[in-house]
Amino acid sequence: MAHKIAIIVGSLRKDSINRKVARSICALRGDNLDCSMIEIGDLPLYNQDLDHSPPQQWVRFREQIAGADGVLFVSPEYNRGIPGVLKNAIDIGSRPYGKSVFDKKPAAIVTASPGSIGGFGSNHQIRQAAVFLNMPVMQQPEAYLGHISEDSFDESGCLKDGPVKDIITNLAHAFHDWVDMILRSRQLLAEDSAHRSQQKEHA
Ligand SMILES: Cc1cc2nc3c(=O)[nH]c(=O)nc-3n(C[C@H](O)[C@H](O)[C@H](O)COP(=O)(O)O)c2cc1C
Repeated sequence: MAHKIAIIVGSLRKDSINRKVARSICALRGDNLDCSMIEIGDLPLYNQDLDHSPPQQWVRFREQIAGADGVLFVSPEYNRGIPGVLKNAIDIGSRPYGKSVFDKKPAAIVTASPGSIGGFGSNHQIRQAAVFLNMPVMQQPEAYLGHISEDSFDESGCLKDGPVKDIITNLAHAFHDWVDMILRSRQLLAEDSAHRSQQKEHA
């Protein structure tokens, strides 16, 4: 069964390598990951004063995340951390307090960089935020994609055959299984709880 995946790319750059990696993931697993790229470049900066009357871009973003089965973050690293535009989106989705649209959504994180450590710092800052957001984050495989450049992609903008494509293929399979496992276990728990309530009523 295809799961609805909201992909949040932490770069607004037209020729972003991270956006191309995200597109490659969708192309590789289109049969069981129903991917949507979620726009974050138009989100007004988070300001708690606006929570009582949120901008329509915030409302749209929150609805898109709420409607997804899982969230895939694909991001560059800026100055060893999360790009501001992505942090802004995370903050917007996390509020108002108690109404976070990220709560309990299974997640995976991919970072890509021309540098050698593949956005490790950014990857782990996203992971840290996801812990606070109560998102079950897939632990393995990790994806710190280093030495990524224009040459890593073919004319269609997808990853060329090679080790990076292999990592991403494994990750896409694993993420489908991760989302599947979490959704199924929740369903089983809900069924079990309904069954127990029925038993109590009849006791
Ligand atoms: C403001 C800024 C800060 C950056 N800091 C880092 C960094 O800390 N680590 C890194 O590997 N690359 C860094 N880079 C280089 C980015 O990895 C590179 O520009 C990459 O292509 C950005 O991702 P994108 O192609 O998806 O936009 C930085 C780039 C910018 C513009």
